[in-house]
Amino acid sequence: MSTPKKVIVIGAGPAGYVCAIRLAQLGQQVTVVEKEYLGGTCLNVGCIPSKAMIAAGSLVDRIGHASAMGITVEGLKLEIEKLVAWKAGIVARLTGGIGVLLRNHKIDVVMGSASLVDKNTVSVQTKEGEKKLSGDVIVLATGSVPIAIPGFDFDEQSVWSSTGALAPKRVPKHLVVIGGGYIGLELGMMYSKLGAKVTVLEATPGALPGQDRDCVKVIERSIKKLGMTLMTETFAQGYEKKGDELHVRVKTPKGEQVVVCDQIASCVGRKPYSAGLGLEKVGLKLDAKGFLTIDKQMRTSVPNIYAIGDLAGQPMLAHKGSKEGLVAAGVIAGQKEEWDVRCVPAVIFTAPEMASVGLLEEQAIAAGRKVKTGSFPFAASGRAMSLMETDGFVKMVVDAETDEILGVHMVGPEVTELIAEAALAIELGATAEDLSRTIHAHPTLPEAMMEAAEAVHHMAVHVFQPKK
Ligand code: FAD
Ligand code: NAI
Repeated sequence: MSTPKKVIVIGAGPAGYVCAIRLAQLGQQVTVVEKEYLGGTCLNVGCIPSKAMIAAGSLVDRIGHASAMGITVEGLKLEIEKLVAWKAGIVARLTGGIGVLLRNHKIDVVMGSASLVDKNTVSVQTKEGEKKLSGDVIVLATGSVPIAIPGFDFDEQSVWSSTGALAPKRVPKHLVVIGGGYIGLELGMMYSKLGAKVTVLEATPGALPGQDRDCVKVIERSIKKLGMTLMTETFAQGYEKKGDELHVRVKTPKGEQVVVCDQIASCVGRKPYSAGLGLEKVGLKLDAKGFLTIDKQMRTSVPNIYAIGDLAGQPMLAHKGSKEGLVAAGVIAGQKEEWDVRCVPAVIFTAPEMASVGLLEEQAIAAGRKVKTGSFPFAASGRAMSLMETDGFVKMVVDAETDEILGVHMVGPEVTELIAEAALAIELGATAEDLSRTIHAHPTLPEAMMEAAEAVHHMAVHVFQPKK
């Protein structure tokens, strides 16, 4: 084995801590520097707390709809402090677990804010003062922060960022959400289920720009069913506080309006975070969107400095950052490694859930492929019926000449779990026929994947497909 390298990982989110653990597994000498919390955005104020709160919202909603099953619950009560404390307990358990894992792998953890001094030296501002670290290799994994728009600075009182929205003291009466993307819809729907009136202001002509439009139509119908309002092609201009009310001025295609609410959440996207990191000291430059440019081995333009996670480009998703962390660790440890994945799945915890992997139909056509599609509705799935969640479908995009699966897009019950099979299929270069010949246990939701694959060839058994 070659001499271990001294590696400094800056940032302990799902990119940084995963990279650090893999480096240690591969025999390297690792120090992690973290300025705020082990686990990063994802574990502390992102993926995990949001999914915990969303699960609570779904439970309340399901109880409210259980009368069709003969179950009526009277006196349902939501104690928001207990919900927030339960969520904080999950976060504490997970972040504590990361600390234990780092310790078990003999990784040094330095709590403080890191900045590059030169290509081998990092200065860390700790509670005890400045600490200098030197390393053969530095991995930058500093993540991202929410974007603030003019007139809506995050004070976490009147205007929440996602962080404030995940630690509420009360359920707002009327919540205005600026941005109908991932966070706006996940948290907007969660608050709607917890009893708030919710208005979503979205700049583009529809919710969730960039996602499969057939899937989004189901989400937009669900927004209406929940009693939420989605205002599209709408921009928030500013707000005034009048007593307990917040008067939000909005520009719509029909002119200016005022929406009166008691809480605003601004969720218009996130930007890579590199402020104070000292990139200029080593000659590293950001691209126009603030990301660091990396090659397939996660190297920046400075050969011993790597960048991973939200700092290193879209999609800003935890599992994409973790994969980059694994690739970087392998490369640093001298293994033959590079980013060679075919697809990054995306999951959105709306109601119903949405999930997507690979090419959209229009992207496949734009890439010059002849395309066939097949879809299967959950309304025809026995399992979906027994769960009382029949909205949605699985849609498969396939190369018409080779039958290779190019993309799978779904909306419906537990599709955030179902997407794993689709990702594996694409990674293995599977065909729609491969999927349709695989026995899927009955009665389960993944049968919808099999039937969507059969539908590509007009052979789905549980929906009638007239021959062309
Ligand atoms: P981060 O998780 O942001 O970690 C970076 C770490 O670096 C932080 O701990 C920060 O304190 C530290 N740091 C920064 N600068 C310095 C410095 N100078 N010195 C020392 N430390 C520093 N993604 C999903 O895939 N699924 C989801 O369900 C999902 N839900 C989300 C919900 C919300 C509300 C939000 C906000 C995000 C969500 N995301 C989700 C996105 C996900 O959180 C990010 O993609 C992921 O956290 C990025 O990982 P990272 O390690 O690159 O950065
Ligand atoms: P986003 O990019 O998903 O959505 C932002 C939305 O705001 C877009 O629809 C955009 O058109 C709209 N917008 C922008 N400016 C606006 C304005 N001035 N007025 C009205 N609308 C405006 O960003 P979001 O929701 O903040 O999430 C950030 C990122 O975090 C996501 O892109 C995703 O990478 C990650 N994330 C992932 C989740 C998951 O995997 N389930 C959940 C939450 C976040």
